[in-house]
Amino acid sequence: MKIRSPIVSVLGHVDHGKTTLLDFIRGSIIAQKEAGGITQHIGATEVPIEVVENIGGEFLKKLGIKETLPGLFFVDTPGHEAFTTLRKRGGALADVAILIVDLNEGFKPQTYEALNILKMYKTPFIVAANKMDKIYGWQTHERAPFLETFPKQPQSVREKLDTGVYELVGILHEEGFESERFDRISNFAKQISIVPISAKTGEGVPELLAMLMGLAQQYLKEQLKIEENAPAKGTILEVKEEVGLGVTIDAVIYDGILKKDDTIAVMTVNDVITTRIRSLLKPNPLEEIREAKKRFKKIDEVVAAAGIKIVAPNIENAMSGSPLRVARDDFEHVKEEILKEIEDIKIDTDELGIVVKADTLGSLEALVNLLRDMKIPIRAADIGDVSRRDVVDASIVKNEDPLYGVIVAFNVKVLPSAAEEIKSSEIKLFSSNIIYQLIEDYDEWIKAAEERKK
Ligand code: GTP
Ligand code: MG
Ligand code: NA
Repeated sequence: MKIRSPIVSVLGHVDHGKTTLLDFIRGSIIAQKEAGGITQHIGATEVPIEVVENIGGEFLKKLGIKETLPGLFFVDTPGHEAFTTLRKRGGALADVAILIVDLNEGFKPQTYEALNILKMYKTPFIVAANKMDKIYGWQTHERAPFLETFPKQPQSVREKLDTGVYELVGILHEEGFESERFDRISNFAKQISIVPISAKTGEGVPELLAMLMGLAQQYLKEQLKIEENAPAKGTILEVKEEVGLGVTIDAVIYDGILKKDDTIAVMTVNDVITTRIRSLLKPNPLEEIREAKKRFKKIDEVVAAAGIKIVAPNIENAMSGSPLRVARDDFEHVKEEILKEIEDIKIDTDELGIVVKADTLGSLEALVNLLRDMKIPIRAADIGDVSRRDVVDASIVKNEDPLYGVIVAFNVKVLPSAAEEIKSSEIKLFSSNIIYQLIEDYDEWIKAAEERKK
């Protein structure tokens, strides 16, 4: 019997500081490098207990919480409204969660959405009231615990902060949760902790981590016990092409052990398939699975909780969000289990519609959601580079309705044969690595085209 790291999902409205908080904890700078400044994929990072202790150390000790956990396994989710599916997936995976709210902005649409996801899955959570350093007059004490930096602030700052916290308490009350600033809580079983932090300066993060460890110990004792030799259970985060590897699966393993010769079962668009693993690649601790491309280590086996990249044949049609199971001699049973679990994330298509391409199923779903909101019909929606077939598809539609005879491509390349075909058939291609840019460009083009018609 082993205790695994709890899976901690970070949820909240766009730009409220999820990635920056994880950057602070990891000592990385991913947020700054993201296209358009937004997170467009789900991320996962293993943070060893030593790192948690280093940041939260003194405070963890003061609270008398004895660490029994190997670490924390963080899942970063996008806050942009289009990525509902990825937020849900992050919520579904979580043992515990951090709901992050910009203290100066308060609750926003995706804060409510995230809270509803936590309600739905009954996930215990902490509220991080972020960006307290932006309060006018704030005096920064880098990395200091909240209880050290707060008393040193001018009175006006302290009042402003508490006003912000009480606004959160009020909204959470309306939503059915009792909450309080963490240091004023009288009953941890009944009240949700609000920890004021700055993801940028690290202030308050010691207490945030301490509260998180406390929550994990309070609620998760049984849930975190795993059978080290049991066949692995996990969830597919993303299915994506990697140069030199082909199509790969990024997955989170939350139970048991996954070995490099295992046969795994996963869901495709219309069936459960099995495939034999070719190699298992693991990012180093503190590295984002999204980013670790060059720094993956080949390993023989991995025990939960872990993020893992799987290379295997015939996984082109595997679905992100699908359960992943090791199938030994019990395929029929495993298949049944998977079918019971799977949510319906199938994309319906129309005869007369546009062609959509994206690098992963998660971003494809987000793109499709946005297009559906605009009432744009979709003929085909697939992951992978733009191919000649996509252009031919678009040409067929173009003859019937020029507005929809287009290709919208997110974060993928155009294959040379497709590029030629695009030129000769004069198909309009919208391509970007920023999802809202893509939508805006297409929307403007449609409007201009309709204008021309008049
Ligand atoms: P999405 O993933 O796109 O939903 O955004 P996010 O929640 O991950 O926010 P992100 O970390 O990208 O931060 C958005 C912006 O806020 C960046 O410019 C950050 O530098 C800034 N920011 C985040 N946390 C803080 C903070 O505590 N203080 C200040 N001053 N700025 C912050
Ligand atoms: Mg982010
Ligand atoms: Na952002």
